[in-house]
Amino acid sequence: MKKIAVIPGDGIGIDVTEEAIKVLEAVKSAGVDINWDTFDYGADKYLETGITLPDEEVENFRENYDAIYIGAVGDPRVPDMHHAKEILLGLRFKLDLYVNYRPVKLYQESLCPLKNKTMDDIDFVVFRENTEGLYAGTGGIIKQGTPDEVAIQTSINTRKGVERIIRHAFEYAKMSGRPRVTMSDKSNAMRFEGDLWQRAFAEVGEEYPDIEKQHWYIDALLMQMVKRPEQFEVIVSCNMFGDIITDLGAQLAGGMGLAGSGNIHPGRTSLFEPVHGSAPKYHGKDIANPLAAILTVGIMLEHLGYPDWNTRIENAVIEAVKTNNVPRDLGGSLGTSASGDYIVSLLES
Ligand code: NAD
Ligand code: IPM
Ligand code: MN
Repeated sequence: MKKIAVIPGDGIGIDVTEEAIKVLEAVKSAGVDINWDTFDYGADKYLETGITLPDEEVENFRENYDAIYIGAVGDPRVPDMHHAKEILLGLRFKLDLYVNYRPVKLYQESLCPLKNKTMDDIDFVVFRENTEGLYAGTGGIIKQGTPDEVAIQTSINTRKGVERIIRHAFEYAKMSGRPRVTMSDKSNAMRFEGDLWQRAFAEVGEEYPDIEKQHWYIDALLMQMVKRPEQFEVIVSCNMFGDIITDLGAQLAGGMGLAGSGNIHPGRTSLFEPVHGSAPKYHGKDIANPLAAILTVGIMLEHLGYPDWNTRIENAVIEAVKTNNVPRDLGGSLGTSASGDYIVSLLES
């Protein structure tokens, strides 16, 4: 039996996770041996108790669960993001979830904000390094509150960290039959880390002679994503750039309401979450689109050994999009709950 730890989190994370759980219930009823427990980590708990996510709980997840599912974290009552950082980045770092897998796939041409782009044109996968770079938390502030204040945030790039995400991207390209890997950095300005990324990309790339290697500086990559997105198959980049690439990528494929993701360490307990945040202004209003959260359930089930269920869930979402049984951010009129119910009805039919 596969066990999942579910953390609805904050804001619309709570709304969309309710729908994700409906899908898990449907999958379970169809005979898949899964079970889940729900955990109330998030802003409310933090504000009431000061607890973010205890180390013992991370150990519990690591030892007793096969996957963790998070809706979203972030709340305006915690402006420094303390709890969100400890919960989300804490899990990514403590579980060493170095692969941030974020597919970008257009399900219907009308959802693309670019002119004359087909579903074939917008179909690529982004691998974001997920444990290092500017997110590593190295740095500090001195002379705070004075005119001489200094803030330093250092980008950490280890040979091991850079190499393993690049190798994962090549391996994925090879296994999925995608012909090209694009690496993006800012090596024209940031020579030290850029040099390491360039060398690792060239050296690991030699192990994959059949896969084309492409490079764009990050500014040019974002421009190319808008100008000629059809060139992309697999993109690999550092933590910070990967964050930015995947919000733009989500938008190319219809918006945050359709973007799912996985934070993965192959073979270990991994974390799954929609790319979007907690959109606090939509919380509790039956407005949030649950399809990103539902597609994320599919990505998680694939990781847990049920790839057919990922396909079935993805097909149900494609059908919902095609028949306009979707929430209003995609041009439909369904509420959060009705949208989840519609997907469940397709899965049960
Ligand atoms: P956001 O993704 O929460 O919302 C940005 C906008 O995108 C929303 O105003 C809305 O218009 C749209 N949107 C996002 N998800 C949607 C959905 N499911 N359905 C319909 N529309 C949707 O990003 P933000 O406003 O920058 O951040 C809000 C909070 O979430 C912040 O605290 C931020 O730090 C946090 N955040 C958390 C995560 C996470 O937990 N993984 C990711 C990103 C942001
Ligand atoms: C994401 C989010 C997070 C990130 C935030 C909430 C720290 O934007 O998952 O894309 O930057 O990784
Ligand atoms: Mn982001």
